[in-house]
Amino acid sequence: MIDLSNVSLKYDNKTTALQNVNLSIDSGEFVFIVGASGAGKSSIIKLLLREKVATTGIVSVNGANVGRLKQHQIPLYRRKLGVVFQDFRLIPNLNVYDNVAFSLRVTNSSNKFIRNRVPYILNLMGLEHKAKSFPNEISGGEQQRVALARAIVNDPPIIIADEPTGNVDPELSHEILELLQGINQCGTTVIMVTHEQDMVKRFGGRTITIDNGRVVFDDVILPAGRG
Ligand SMILES: Nc1ncnc2c1ncn2[C@@H]1O[C@H](COP(=O)(O)OP(=O)(O)OP(=O)(O)O)[C@@H](O)[C@H]1O
Ligand SMILES: [Mg+2]
Repeated sequence: MIDLSNVSLKYDNKTTALQNVNLSIDSGEFVFIVGASGAGKSSIIKLLLREKVATTGIVSVNGANVGRLKQHQIPLYRRKLGVVFQDFRLIPNLNVYDNVAFSLRVTNSSNKFIRNRVPYILNLMGLEHKAKSFPNEISGGEQQRVALARAIVNDPPIIIADEPTGNVDPELSHEILELLQGINQCGTTVIMVTHEQDMVKRFGGRTITIDNGRVVFDDVILPAGRG
């Protein structure tokens, strides 16, 4: 489903963010991407979203050669991906409700569906009381949950979450991970970037470690025994 083949990425022809990356992710997998700050994790996501084009190599998603998509094909392509950005990217002049509803409006969901679905998802995220607040009126952790709500509201086949637990406390981060795992169990492919190695060790699962732009580990980590 997702395939990176000999992928390198250079920014400004100077910084080499990724070097000869090979990885493939099947439909329905749950994959952690871990690694130190600056390792290249978000760069992989930028390639998957076609925010960047690989300097060398091929990125393919659902059979599409992502780097070869024409400009007019990109919006439709991106709609199949539910994305939580590391910096959230909420729309500042829309309230929480409308930020989440926006994902449904651009895909022409019916008003009736939107009126049911958005409150359901806000509730799931514990955000029902913030529906009318604007992004600059809520906390970092709340913004993060709005970003997650927006990523899942469309029920996309692939969810890509860049540090979705970076701004929340351990208990909530545990809940977010369980939520993503639940979504994964219903068949959605989930790729989750995190620097929280402890959480990965506790939950276990396929883990890809990036170091200095290279894949240095790609295997299943067994969950730590719960004593
Ligand atoms: N827009 C950019 N222009 C130039 N260099 C960049 C740009 N974005 C990232 N880089 C560089 O590319 C490398 C990989 O960055 P990337 O954002 O992929 O790291 P990351 O693993 O996501 O780190 P973090 O955990 O801090 O989010 C780093 O050396 C970074 O400084
Ligand atoms: Mg990053």
